[in-house]
Amino acid sequence: MTVSVAKQAAAERAVEYITDGMIVGLGSGSTSELAIEAIARRVREGLQIKAVASSKKSEALAREGGIPIIPFSQVESIDLNIDGADEVDAFFHLIKGGGGAHLREKVLAYNSRRFVVIVDDSKLVDQLGKFPLPVEIVPFAYELTVKNLAGLGCRPVIRKDKDDNYLTDNGNWIADCHFSVIANPEKLEQSLKQIPGVVETGLFSAMADFIVVGYGDGTVKEIVVKPE
Ligand code: A5P
Repeated sequence: MTVSVAKQAAAERAVEYITDGMIVGLGSGSTSELAIEAIARRVREGLQIKAVASSKKSEALAREGGIPIIPFSQVESIDLNIDGADEVDAFFHLIKGGGGAHLREKVLAYNSRRFVVIVDDSKLVDQLGKFPLPVEIVPFAYELTVKNLAGLGCRPVIRKDKDDNYLTDNGNWIADCHFSVIANPEKLEQSLKQIPGVVETGLFSAMADFIVVGYGDGTVKEIVVKPE
């Protein structure tokens, strides 16, 4: 209950930063969905924006709420991208992908002028890694890819969706990599990206510009990671 209050508070505060004329990036996951609902309310009140979405689910929710979705061919850069995270460390590196959408989420974040992260306070950690790191991999020869992932010091587990392997919006699989502690996210990211078969990792190092943390009492803390 308090977690949902915290998520709502963070989502609503971030949405206040959206102004007329912006191209807005829509994240994925439960906190982002609260933001999408808040954006839809503002659109119904007259806010003039266009948006792109990081998952099929978020796009459907946005369309349902009346948020105009545009194709990426019409996007030079995204003005404000709002998305959740699974962990935020003391240096504001993130783990994302608990919902399996981190590849598309990273494309949006990379192409945004401002990447705003919305989390409840339970997501704040000293060091990343307690949350298993989602790594999107191609199904081809996955046994080898998984072996190479394990060679980096983790226990990779292929994500399941009932009896089948979980399928991302891109038709790939997710290996949830149990590291316990990630001492150097930037170095790990480089090592992971060198493994053929790895499409994208859920490590978002030094990407967040602004973080809104929501608390169970409905208050928020705003952290400027990179000044505008
Ligand atoms: C989706 O793939 C994720 O990156 C989410 O942004 C992340 O898992 C946070 O999700 P919640 O907002 O549901 O906690």
